[in-house]
Amino acid sequence: MEIMGRGFRQIVQETPNYFHIFIKYAGYKLLDKRSPIYGSADIINVCNLHCTHCYWWLNRKENEELTVEQWKQVIDEKFKKQHVFIITLVGGEPTLRPDVIELFVKEFPKRVSVVTNGTYPLKKYKDLYFYWVSVDGTEEVHDTIRGKGAYASTRKNIIDYVENNGEKALKDIWISMTINSQNYKTIKDVIDEWYGHVNKIGFQFHTPFAKGDPLWLPFGPERTKVVDDIIALKDQYDDDYIINPKSQLELMKKNWGGKGTTPIDCPTWAILSVDHMGREKKPCCIGSAEKNSMAPICEDCGLGCYSVLLAHGMKS
Ligand SMILES: C[S@@+](CC[C@H](N)C(=O)[O-])C[C@H]1O[C@@H](n2cnc3c(N)ncnc32)[C@H](O)[C@@H]1O
Ligand code: SF4
Ligand code: SF4
Repeated sequence: MEIMGRGFRQIVQETPNYFHIFIKYAGYKLLDKRSPIYGSADIINVCNLHCTHCYWWLNRKENEELTVEQWKQVIDEKFKKQHVFIITLVGGEPTLRPDVIELFVKEFPKRVSVVTNGTYPLKKYKDLYFYWVSVDGTEEVHDTIRGKGAYASTRKNIIDYVENNGEKALKDIWISMTINSQNYKTIKDVIDEWYGHVNKIGFQFHTPFAKGDPLWLPFGPERTKVVDDIIALKDQYDDDYIINPKSQLELMKKNWGGKGTTPIDCPTWAILSVDHMGREKKPCCIGSAEKNSMAPICEDCGLGCYSVLLAHGMKS
């Protein structure tokens, strides 16, 4: 038995955590009390790529970042204090801070996922939940977005990781594709070329920070067809290879998040997001802790992590 990559024994061991989730969920449903269930941390403010679609570069300023000891403080004062269950490490490129990944994995065994561009060799952490490796199309399109040679490095590092760490290591690799106006025609090819090499694949849509962003795939018949095609493909592959639930994909056809840059239905409270200095980001994980920063456009949002929660009944 396996649920979202978690085996039976692990689920039993995690019973106390599920108790906290149950209390949080009941508190939300019965008393309208909001307490974060998930967390995200930008553990580094540096990246080796400069992708055309990337929100992180839009608000990036200084190089400063925290030491392992300072991250331990953030973990205790924010994530542990609020009994956050799963933490996603982001950046910049988080694999450039193995010391911080090591710390998070030690503090939250099997509850940490790392979002990575996969261009550096992927280190095996015994108690990592999994790597979310970003793939933004077939080789040519991916490299147009992420830079020449990026696809080949990522592909090699994934294949090497599985070869070097045994067949079970395939379970550690999930692909994340952010669909935009440049890559949407490659979705089926991406699904096929990674099938059998990775555990799961998840889709989200590009979220713009300005109206008229040419990478945003507008709502309308073309986008609706993209979503319907993914829904139809879900049944053609085993073991929930395509991880998005149908209810979430349906939300992606139209505005589900908010109005202008203000979240309305989006359950921003459910994910506690901190930036590279450990400061809370608003309104969500792609926002910023600083005033006067560029804000994402909620009414055109395509983010997976919040829409999946809304699809499961959690609202603002
Ligand atoms: C900012 S990156 C950080 C982690 C790592 N560097 C990577 O590329 O996976 C986190 C994820 O956000 C996605 N992303 C970047 N800009 C986005 C945007 N405007 N809308 C939606 N997703 C975006 C990336 O494709 C990536 O999967
Ligand atoms: S690798 Fe990740 S953080 Fe770096 S520019 Fe690309 S999307 Fe942004
Ligand atoms: S995830 Fe962020 S950008 Fe999207 S609707 Fe929610 S607050 Fe707005």
